[in-house]
Formats: sequence, structure tokens, C-alpha cells
Amino acid sequence: MRTAIISDIHGNIFAADAVLADIRDQSIDRIFCLGDTVGYLPFPRECLDFVIRNCKIVLRGNHEDWIIRNELDNFSDVAYDSAIFTRKELEPHDDLSVERRRWQFMHTLPYSYTEDEALYVHASPRPNLLVSEYLAADDGEQELSSGSPIDLALMLLGKKGIKFCFHGHTHVAGIMYHDKKKDKLIFLPEKNVILPIRLGEHAPYLIDVGSVGMPRDFNPAACYVIFDSDKQKIEFRRIAYNPLPMQYAIRNTPQINEILAERVKYGT
Ligand SMILES: [Fe+2]
Repeated sequence: MRTAIISDIHGNIFAADAVLADIRDQSIDRIFCLGDTVGYLPFPRECLDFVIRNCKIVLRGNHEDWIIRNELDNFSDVAYDSAIFTRKELEPHDDLSVERRRWQFMHTLPYSYTEDEALYVHASPRPNLLVSEYLAADDGEQELSSGSPIDLALMLLGKKGIKFCFHGHTHVAGIMYHDKKKDKLIFLPEKNVILPIRLGEHAPYLIDVGSVGMPRDFNPAACYVIFDSDKQKIEFRRIAYNPLPMQYAIRNTPQINEILAERVKYGT
């Protein structure tokens, strides 16, 4: 089974369409989306319709969670303004069934999905932190400090017999695991991964699939992952697309902070 795993589209329909075009050439059986389909960029309706149409599993991200619960306390100014915009775009204004269907869909999004030895979440496998915890590390080898969020996450996965935990949220793609021989935490960022990578001896793995619409690893190309469960292999894909239509749309949506036009262009 070959699953394309996408995450953090964030209202960037141009990046989502570019990724879908690539997925169609990769003999993919199904697409999973790990949340943050909306938020930040100006096409939340189109992106929700995109995942409804194309994805077998769609999870809840922190942006969907905050928008439907109307709790925006922890947002930066940029995220807050776009969350208000996104909520207005998505709230049903009249009896149009398409608007009601989207709003209803947002409310039914699950926090996680488990299948065989794989767990899919937006941010972290840890209960109560499923959409909120940032699991990020510096590139390369480092000490795995006991009781740290990454240590607790890896221990939990081991206890549950999960080999692969796919997540997004940080917008920085890569693989994290505990190398037991060296007793080190390894974070292999996507740019250092030789493709495709076969996963085995260091399980459990935290696999950050990166972001389709707003990468933050200084590479503006949309990112997604292909998981081949029969071969136990994963592949990161980076798909370059023209950022100009998105930059134009951002600058013509007064509620969205213009700084996002630069961030989309540079992948920051
Ligand atoms: Fe996100």
C-alpha cells in the first residue's frame, strides 16, 4: 500500500494542486492529510474542498481546532488575523448546503488515526498534546534528555508498539529516532535524507512530513511524504510551484498580513 501523506496546506491551494499533480504520477493508493488544511493563507474553502475530494483520512490540526472552538488566545498577531478571516470564510452565512457541509466536516475531524504499526497525528502522539506540541530538534546527533517531550513521545510509541508516527505541525520535514547503539537522538532533516529510505532497526520513528503550503525549512517547494507500508520505505517529495499567484492573493486580501507573501516565497 502506497500512501501519500500531506499536511499543513494552510489555505495554499496552488501548492496543494501542484502536490496532487505529482501524487498522480507516483502510483499512490490513497492520500492522508494530517491537518492545518486552513489558516494563514487566503483559500480555506478551496483547500477544505480539496481534502474532502481527495483524501481518505483528514485529521484535525491546531488551526481547525482553534477556529471551531473559537479560542484564539495563543496565536501570534499574524495567525490571529488570518484565523479571524478563515473563520468568517468558513462559517455558514445562509442555508447554502455546501457551506454547512464544510462547517460540519470541520467539526467531525478526528485527532488521530492508527493503522497496523503506524500512527497519524497532527503534532504529537502524546494525549492532550495531539494538535499542539512541537516535536523539533537540531540537525544531526544530540543527547536525548530523559523526560523531554521527544523522549516521552518515543517511549509512548514504543510502549504502544507503534513503529512509525507521521506528524506535521513544525513545517520542517525530517525523521527523528533514538539510535540505541550510540544512545543519541538523531534528527535527519529532509534535505539530508537519501531517497527512498528504508526504515527498520531504530523504530519507533517520528516522521515529520513537512508542509504543503508553508514550509519553514528555507525551501519554498511544497513537501509531502510517500509511505510504502509493504516495503517499509518512505520518500520525501519536494514540489516547486510558482508562488506569484499566492503572493498576489495575499496582497489583495487586506485581513491577511503581507509578510506571508515573503514567507511563501522563501520558505520561512
Ligand atoms: Fe501548521
